[in-house]
Amino acid sequence: MSAPDIPSRAPARAVLPERGPEPVRITLTVNGVDRAVEVEPRVSLLDALRERLDLTGAKKGCDQGTCGACTVWVDGRRVLACLTLAITCEGREVTTIEGLAEGDELHAMQSAFIEQDAFQCGYCTPGQIMSAVALLKEGHASDDREIAEWMSGNICRCAAYPHIRAAIRTVRDRA
Ligand code: FES
Ligand code: FES
Repeated sequence: MSAPDIPSRAPARAVLPERGPEPVRITLTVNGVDRAVEVEPRVSLLDALRERLDLTGAKKGCDQGTCGACTVWVDGRRVLACLTLAITCEGREVTTIEGLAEGDELHAMQSAFIEQDAFQCGYCTPGQIMSAVALLKEGHASDDREIAEWMSGNICRCAAYPHIRAAIRTVRDRA
């Protein structure tokens, strides 16, 4: 009997050109605008946004993926910008809190946060709002328990949680 045909190794992967460690020029599409930026490959998306592109809406809370203050969207999905390398976002759509309003018109979630008094110091708020909008799109807001579960990656030191949930319910119920 002949031996089964088992591949002796994994299929070869496309070899990408090596880049870095010195700074490399990349283009990020942020809030619909192409922005060229020079970064070392180790630089996080959060640092690229805040320190190179002057978009300081996303906040640095823990810088280690535990607080959610840095939440932005990449290709429409929420990600922690402190745990995402900027260089991996080339050719993808990055959306930050600065891209949510339409000119002078606030996004419905931004208005609801104001209406429901859903912040105190405001430090966590940009991340909360980016997560809250994504949460509704994901369909994870059927009740307060589900909202709390799917917002659990966004910490609020001021404990504005009941008001944050009220803001999310407000937008959900108006849709
Ligand atoms: S700063 Fe990114 S999770 Fe805290
Ligand atoms: S409003 Fe202060 S940390 Fe959330």
